[in-house]
Amino acid sequence: MAHVPTSGSLPRHFSEPLERLADRVGVFGARVLWFEEVGSTNTIAVGLAERGEEEGTVVVADAQSAGRGRLGRTWASPPGAGLYMSVILRPAETMPLLTLAAGVAAANGLYTATGLTVDLKWPNDLYCGGRKVGGLLAESGRAAQGKPFVVLGIGVNVQRASLPSTVDARATSIEAELGRPVERGLIFAEVLAAVADVYATLARGGSAEVLGAWRVRAQRMLGRAVEWDEGSSVQTGRAVDIDDTGALIVETAGGTRRIVAGEVRWSGLTPRTSP
Ligand code: BTN
Repeated sequence: MAHVPTSGSLPRHFSEPLERLADRVGVFGARVLWFEEVGSTNTIAVGLAERGEEEGTVVVADAQSAGRGRLGRTWASPPGAGLYMSVILRPAETMPLLTLAAGVAAANGLYTATGLTVDLKWPNDLYCGGRKVGGLLAESGRAAQGKPFVVLGIGVNVQRASLPSTVDARATSIEAELGRPVERGLIFAEVLAAVADVYATLARGGSAEVLGAWRVRAQRMLGRAVEWDEGSSVQTGRAVDIDDTGALIVETAGGTRRIVAGEVRWSGLTPRTSP
């Protein structure tokens, strides 16, 4: 099991909004571990969950030296420029829609905190004007004593400085989109409150509600041309919807396809000029 470093005290600009939203954040505000710098908040959270850490514990860092993205990619995480957080969940039963729901939560939280509308690109990438502004990395496992867990890692580009220079044309930040500074701590607290909300919705059987909310947030992405790799060939089609399990439905020349995992590229996404 990985070594878990000692956390510091949560800075005021994070703890104040969290206290203000205490009623909505609930268990997700009860234990928040703050780090000036870690390799990856997800790695820390997975290590804690493997040791039996309770549901609701949040790991948040000012910077990550080895931030991880989906499909083995890295996630640029310079100090103070982005939001880098991971939440430990222990769903009582399997929740197939949890990762889609987490995307809805991140989009809702960002909107409430800043007024910025973000689009969801399947399964849960956060986009704005054709550029990526955030992403989610969900990792599941089982504690030594057998309790399953899911760690939801959420990364948001808040300031321009958070953008990785190599993919600058395809990435944006909240501040670049809005043209003004925003409060990172408020985004943190509102995203947590939104996670609490969608998680409660799923737990009470509200899958249809979550699917509906996902479709609304994805409306600018659905109906567009997409492509994906299958073995050594590139498949093409039009992304039209998701089904009840959260799989992406794509219409192709050869019929309707269901995509359950991997990366789908939206060929119709043409970023505007640099923000
Ligand atoms: C992606 O779109 O590829 C997912 C990016 C997820 C990044 C976040 S930042 C907080 C958490 N810790 C990590 O190492 N990754 C996630």
